[in-house]
Amino acid sequence: MSEPILRCMKCHKEYDASQIVYTCTGCGALLEVVIEPPKVTLKEMARRPLRVWRYREFLPIAKETPIISLDEGGTQLYRCDKLAKWAGIRRLYIKYEGANPTGSFKDRGMTLGVTKAKSLGSKAVACASTGNTSASLSAYAARAGLTCYVILPAGKVAMGKLAQALMHGAKVISVKGNFDQALNIVMGISTKMGIYLLNSINPWRLEGQKTLAFEVVDQLGHVPEMVAVPMGNCGNISAIWKGFKEFQDAGITDCLPRMYGVQAAGSAPVVRMLRENLSELAPVNSPETVATAIRIGNPVNWPKAVNAIKESKGAYDAVSDDEIVETQRIIACLEGIGVEPASAASVAGVRKAASIGAMDADAEVVCVCTGHLLKDPEEVISICGKPIEVPPDLKAVSEMLSPV
Ligand code: F0G
Repeated sequence: MSEPILRCMKCHKEYDASQIVYTCTGCGALLEVVIEPPKVTLKEMARRPLRVWRYREFLPIAKETPIISLDEGGTQLYRCDKLAKWAGIRRLYIKYEGANPTGSFKDRGMTLGVTKAKSLGSKAVACASTGNTSASLSAYAARAGLTCYVILPAGKVAMGKLAQALMHGAKVISVKGNFDQALNIVMGISTKMGIYLLNSINPWRLEGQKTLAFEVVDQLGHVPEMVAVPMGNCGNISAIWKGFKEFQDAGITDCLPRMYGVQAAGSAPVVRMLRENLSELAPVNSPETVATAIRIGNPVNWPKAVNAIKESKGAYDAVSDDEIVETQRIIACLEGIGVEPASAASVAGVRKAASIGAMDADAEVVCVCTGHLLKDPEEVISICGKPIEVPPDLKAVSEMLSPV
């Protein structure tokens, strides 16, 4: 079997796996990991637990490399019949990425990325983040014994995520700017100071995230018609699409889903680009949304996301903050599943598409719910309010209840 390589998406220049490079040194475009489709069946891999590393043969890490892992992946795929009815489609599943060790899908990427960093001999890792990437990287860096630097947009990171980065011992630096500015800074710093960069521009990290597609096939027993994904920096939708394609290339599946990319209306440059048929992304300079995880105006992975949507004959849309918040609450109250606002965008997008006739009412959709409810407790209090306080006596409490 040939070794995995990196290939430029635009000029096809190739790099071997030991080179530390994030974008093409020739033309500046994004890089992609290319693997030879492995000869392995689902059944053979099913001897291992349902986790990211079940799919070893698809992961571009040499067999003898020590893996840095927190047993990530293997998240629940919930069938949600009440939610499907609410959204106006036949069948809806939630792939609950909040169940990962640090509470978001980022862990799938970080097990790969930090394993890679360690195997390359890096001593320090870094990222810019709207929160979850930093929470995840700081945990995996701790496990690997690496120094971790995270650069955050000041005042715009949910409290749960910040708490994680701080407790796992990362050096946390807040910049008075937005995520896009923080990412520019960390990209400059990592090249200059030899710190391994673990934002989703790093193609190795995305290799871990593609396992979500593998798990969906395993759990559902087939390829769903559509997969809805919230888009921020646009790495996840492209990673998931790559996963579905690789399963097909390896002969494990024989069809592909349509990818549905959903952005928050105040941070929707990719949706605008596709809607207006622009050839380049027009960044949003001051992105705003309650879904701070996807508050990104200049997503670096936009070419990969646009490919995923176009190649899969997929769809795209933006949802308002009101739609996001309402959907977050409905998912929690109807199905008992707690997700953070960005995660609710995928389900909100499905409901919107069904209501305007852009999605077949007969569709079967998997919505990727990317992060846990507890990530952003302040948002919850701001929409649900504080609990009612009463004196500590039976009468006062029973007056608050309705008889059954
Ligand atoms: N949902 C959540 C909960 C996220 O944290 C993110 C990204 C996304 C969706 C979007 O994924 O960037 O691959 O399109 N969060 C990043 C971070 C940017 O820094 O934590 P994407």
